Amino acid sequence: MSARYTGLIERYRDRLPVSDDTRLISLGEGNTPLIKLNYIPKLTGKDVEIFVKYEGLNPTGSFKDRGMTMAVTKAVEEGSKAIICASTGNTSAAAAAYAARAGIAAFVLIPDGKIALGKLAQGMMHGATVIQIKGNFDDGMQLVKEVAEHAPVTIVNSINPYRLQGQKTAAFEIVEELGEAPDYHCLPVGNAGNITAHWIGYSEYACQLGDTVTEACALCEGECQYTNVVVCSKRPKMVGYQAAGSAPFMRGEMVDNPETVATAIRIGHPQSWDRAWKVKEESGGWFDECTDEAILAAQKLLAEKEGVFCEPASATSLAGALADIESGKIPEGSKIVCTLTGHGLKDPDTAIKQSTAPMVTVDATLDAVRNAILSNMPD
Ligand code: F0G
Repeated sequence: MSARYTGLIERYRDRLPVSDDTRLISLGEGNTPLIKLNYIPKLTGKDVEIFVKYEGLNPTGSFKDRGMTMAVTKAVEEGSKAIICASTGNTSAAAAAYAARAGIAAFVLIPDGKIALGKLAQGMMHGATVIQIKGNFDDGMQLVKEVAEHAPVTIVNSINPYRLQGQKTAAFEIVEELGEAPDYHCLPVGNAGNITAHWIGYSEYACQLGDTVTEACALCEGECQYTNVVVCSKRPKMVGYQAAGSAPFMRGEMVDNPETVATAIRIGHPQSWDRAWKVKEESGGWFDECTDEAILAAQKLLAEKEGVFCEPASATSLAGALADIESGKIPEGSKIVCTLTGHGLKDPDTAIKQSTAPMVTVDATLDAVRNAILSNMPD
């Protein structure tokens, strides 16, 4: 392998469904930082280690790039000239960018007025056809499935199996960096594709590392090349957090009118429903919900005290983890990874609205600026 990092397919080629002849459509995605938090663990008053996997540093600013590089690579390999998705914004941004990179067309269906500004800009800038629908993500998803039966387009939502294959590599990176899987892996859950993908990744990796033959992981379903070899050394408990107004996994049923400030996970009919329940069962994890207030507070805490800016939906993983650390459900001594799924710059409106940082407008004089500094100096 050359020293230049050229994306996750190249890096994990032997564990992904590509051949030597496959033309890779890549923007250098993956290889994102796993940042150990300093301030926030102390704040909990408990003995825990918390790492955040900063997926906002992917090329289009979210974890979707991991899946999209695979989905678009395979679409192109299969001769597709156009891709389509429904999206709360990040999938559409990634689809638009990777389609541009590949030289094919992208059609994206988004809920009218309900996606963050940065994501809208991305879809438009990369030249996708942006179709705003007067409905929510779930309506868009239904339409995409129907229209794909009548038009020559490849669906690149996470029901496309290559998406999860790409996304599983985040778990590989974490195991490689920590030397083993963490005790708990916390994620925001919308469609539940990403929590499923991580579990596949941890399971495959554990199978590869494991040293005793016991049983096959159910999720591998024969696809994992290691299934027959071994089972699993350590895997984490997978914990999925949803926004309270948009929490079908907590309700135990689909939600028809989901609402949350975390627009990325404003989803009431998750596409990976059965698989996510299986992840919870197999990993010994759980689902829980966070209020919008708790989500925004966690987003702000990360930005102000750790220097990490993620979008609201992403902060759901930390908001939930903090509640479970406090209650003791996540016990002391635990090593926890929270995925921060998207960059804070995706949603500048929400950030500016909730910011309490002092912003003053003063005359352009030395005195005025000095006064502004002195009156805002920490004690
Ligand atoms: N976090 C962010 C920032 C997201 O954009 C999404 C999903 C999720 C978490 C949830 O991931 O669906 O795999 O459970 N966004 C999709 C989109 C729906 O269209 O961009 P999931």
